[in-house]
Amino acid sequence: MKHTKLTPIYHSFMAFCTTLAFVATPAGAADPRQFAELKPAAQETLRQEMLDNLMALNAIISLLAGNQVKEAGEVAEKELGRSAMGKNASKSFEARPGPQMPREMHQLGISGHLAATEFAKAAASGDRDKALAELSAVIGSCVACHASYRTR
Ligand code: HEC
Repeated sequence: MKHTKLTPIYHSFMAFCTTLAFVATPAGAADPRQFAELKPAAQETLRQEMLDNLMALNAIISLLAGNQVKEAGEVAEKELGRSAMGKNASKSFEARPGPQMPREMHQLGISGHLAATEFAKAAASGDRDKALAELSAVIGSCVACHASYRTR
């Protein structure tokens, strides 16, 4: 008897605690992605690279839409592919994001470059469908890293 009387109070109490826990959780703490701690200079390098990545992707898709498949491949190789690797080698360690990343994160970055080169190879044939089939792996690498890692 006692138990049934107390049950609603218990439930309200638990609901109250849940609300409290939710309100007390600082914004961002619920982000399940792994935190990669990069030095500010490396973060700045990465951010600029990311903006360039998005512009390159936009150029690639516009060229594909205009059926300029080979040109799309050239942009991909130059801006995102193997040719774009090691761009930061001359910078100080502080400003180089790659070596400061967790190994798996860095590996995702490298596989993104390789996927862009595969796209470029397919695009060199001029066959748009063949190229498009490789493009999804390029965008997939952006998604994979963003879904798993954060830098702040
Ligand atoms: C190896 C991991 C990784 C890969 C691969 C990657 N990104 Fe990012 N990206 C990041 C991280 C980390 C940030 C957050 C950088 C920061 O602000 O500290 C970011 C931020 C961005 C931003 C926001 C930039 C801003 O102004 O804040 C854009 C846009 C972006 N990425 C686009 C892309 C595109 C497009 C690709 C694929 C071609 C890509 N990224 C691939 C890790 C990655």
